[in-house]
Amino acid sequence: MEIKVICGDITKIEVDALVVNLFEGVKQLGGATAVVDKAVDNVITQLIEAGEIKGKFDELTLIHTLGKIPARRVLVAGLGKQQELTPDRVRQLAATVCRFLRDKGVKRVATIAHGAGVGGIELQTSAQAIAEGSILGLYKFRRHITKEPEIGVIDELLIVERDEAKVPQLEKGCAIGKVLAEATGFARDMINEPANFMTPADMAEIAKRIATEYGLEFTLMEQEQMQELGMGALLGVAQGSRQPPKFVILQYRGDSSSQKSLGLIGKGVTFDSGGISIKPSEDMAEMKGDMAGGATVIAALRAIAQLNPTINVTALVPATENLPGGAALKPGDVLKAMNGKTIEIISTDAEGRLILADALCYARKLGLSWLVDVATLTGACRVALGNVCSGTFGNNQELVDKVIEAGRKAGERSWQMPMYEEYKEQNKSEVADIKNTGGRYGGAITAAQFLAEFAEDTPWVHLDIAGTSRSEKDKGYLVKGATGVGVRTLVNLALSLAEE
Ligand code: BES
Ligand code: MN
Ligand code: ZN
Repeated sequence: MEIKVICGDITKIEVDALVVNLFEGVKQLGGATAVVDKAVDNVITQLIEAGEIKGKFDELTLIHTLGKIPARRVLVAGLGKQQELTPDRVRQLAATVCRFLRDKGVKRVATIAHGAGVGGIELQTSAQAIAEGSILGLYKFRRHITKEPEIGVIDELLIVERDEAKVPQLEKGCAIGKVLAEATGFARDMINEPANFMTPADMAEIAKRIATEYGLEFTLMEQEQMQELGMGALLGVAQGSRQPPKFVILQYRGDSSSQKSLGLIGKGVTFDSGGISIKPSEDMAEMKGDMAGGATVIAALRAIAQLNPTINVTALVPATENLPGGAALKPGDVLKAMNGKTIEIISTDAEGRLILADALCYARKLGLSWLVDVATLTGACRVALGNVCSGTFGNNQELVDKVIEAGRKAGERSWQMPMYEEYKEQNKSEVADIKNTGGRYGGAITAAQFLAEFAEDTPWVHLDIAGTSRSEKDKGYLVKGATGVGVRTLVNLALSLAEE
């Protein structure tokens, strides 16, 4: 789908569908909706009077124009209550509208910049939300489906503006939205890919391709170097699989005048069977998505390279399978991480924190200034927060606040969880420095406390996306399957740090 901003009169434009909007409770139309209403003999007003259009959020009313204007249909989209309008609602609505129109076989769509008038949303923000929402909402993963698709595609989406002076702002928002949504789609593709097509080597290959295409530095660390560096925790997880682990490093240098660098670390478990502490077979297939954090940071670097902010960013992805092969790690084993700390393995299914431990040590060795890790880390986080928001943890309130704010702007909500000292008790081991599980209670927090031991005194935030990385249904701009959550948060974070 191509998205373009054009300057013109919406009543003159020839498209399959023209999208206008309405706030809940509005009886007297204004703005572009009023102009279109007049051109179609007040049919929108009549439908409002008949009580058929209420303007409730996500309400869609399709009207055929029967030759009154060149656009064949007008779609009235409900914006909800005016005081409840947010950029994220515009994003959600754009997605719902596009999916609806696609399923009607519509090819060319024109829309106004929702919320940019009396809604009080900035033009650039509105255009960005529309671009993001429509691209994300139309996403489909059908790489392995051989039969022809039954649903069509929308070829073109036009954002129409009457005032020439407003076009550049809309174009800017549209361009940024496109980069963010396409990077998110790229992450979704990686996450949705079955584990036999997304091994650690495949992840490395993709990162390398991204580096060449977008001008990033790519470094691949192989098993021998992990051994030299003493990454015993990552190697311990990898030893149960025939797939060799890979440690992917992508670097974006946008600020040569600064030594500082943002480090983004993503859990790259390409399949998590649980290892010897094997998971129940029910829903185990979901665990092909346990590399979502890794995909997220790779995709974020792709978008950052395109947007070119003045900041240095390094992405680190420890990638491995977690399988119960003959050489597999066993409960009771003791591993030594790169910083020399020893870890007693209680459950081989708590593998994410092990590979992240070494990645955090390595990030510190590189001297990165701020660390943010993203991981499908604990079922406990999903139990605590469901699929509505991710869990945020950290050792530095300023950075925590920045990550939460970056997420809020993206419509990717996250909620800060406590890091009270007392939780650390649960990670105490009798035979090693720490153990890899802290029991059932507060499981998301004890996992974060484990990571904190390896972030040490570097400002660090951990995002647990176990509950948010998958959607069970199509909803707004989420499509069943991988959500790509975190990509837009991390890009926003890099942009905001670059502004400082
Ligand atoms: N990858 C899982 C966490 C997960 C669960 C992600 C469900 C997405 C959906 C992680 O490696 C894991 O298995 N965690 C264990 C930790 C436990 C053994 C302490 C868990 O949450 O059960
Ligand atoms: Mn696991
Ligand atoms: Zn896992």
